[in-house]
Amino acid sequence: MASSRATRVLSLTRRPFSSSSSLKFDAGVSMVQGASRGIGLEFVKQLLEKNDKGHVVATCRNPDASTGLAQLKDKFAESLKLLPLDLTVETSIQASASSVRETYGHLNLLINASGILSIPQVLQPVSKTAAVEFAREKDPIVCILLHPGTVDTDLSKPFQKNVPKEKLFSKEFSVQKLLSIIDNVKSNDNGKFFAWDGQEIPW
Ligand SMILES: NC(=O)c1ccc[n+]([C@@H]2O[C@H](COP(=O)([O-])OP(=O)(O)OC[C@H]3O[C@@H](n4cnc5c(N)ncnc54)[C@H](OP(=O)(O)O)[C@@H]3O)[C@@H](O)[C@H]2O)c1
Repeated sequence: MASSRATRVLSLTRRPFSSSSSLKFDAGVSMVQGASRGIGLEFVKQLLEKNDKGHVVATCRNPDASTGLAQLKDKFAESLKLLPLDLTVETSIQASASSVRETYGHLNLLINASGILSIPQVLQPVSKTAAVEFAREKDPIVCILLHPGTVDTDLSKPFQKNVPKEKLFSKEFSVQKLLSIIDNVKSNDNGKFFAWDGQEIPW
């Protein structure tokens, strides 16, 4: 079992963007849950910047209230879609799934960066079950967990005084590292847990 800090994680699922083993950002559809601020917002920004032919769906409870998302929407009007999604409300999950299906027909990458599923006792069994189920699909989906390090966001503010300066990462740095892990994920990584530096965390 990972340490208590290491068990606060992000999770993601992805289908290959292309037949090559490396993630190709061109023309893929990515969805980020928990995108209004913090790590999720930075994922949206970097995915849009790296992926000039692809699309990003950004979700949170009230996208209209996020100034960060509004700024990205101004810059990436065509490639960014904002959807309301509350992970505690099943109908809102269904509504956003229908909207994605109607607009794009598929998803290549799903990143869950919302704090709500970070409770270890909930996230880990759910992720393990998802990984097992996804591997059985005819077109298998890879599901991994990621630890972003301690990242300077609203969520970590109360704990930052105990973190040495060099160990408090910027959102930009952490998300660059995490995208590089995503970029290189292989089908046999399904169900694994990786730290920001690519080290596998046993769990
Ligand atoms: N920051 C760190 O040092 C750190 C370290 C380890 C792990 N993590 C994990 O990384 C993830 C992101 O952390 P963060 O620091 O970026 O957090 P954050 O700045 O607090 O952002 C959390 C995001 O989750 C969304 N969210 C909260 N409740 C939601 C709900 N019911 N439905 C949908 N979205 C919801 C929020 O959007 P709205 O409130 O606008 O809906 C917001 O966009 C979390 O899972 C966290 O546990 C962070």
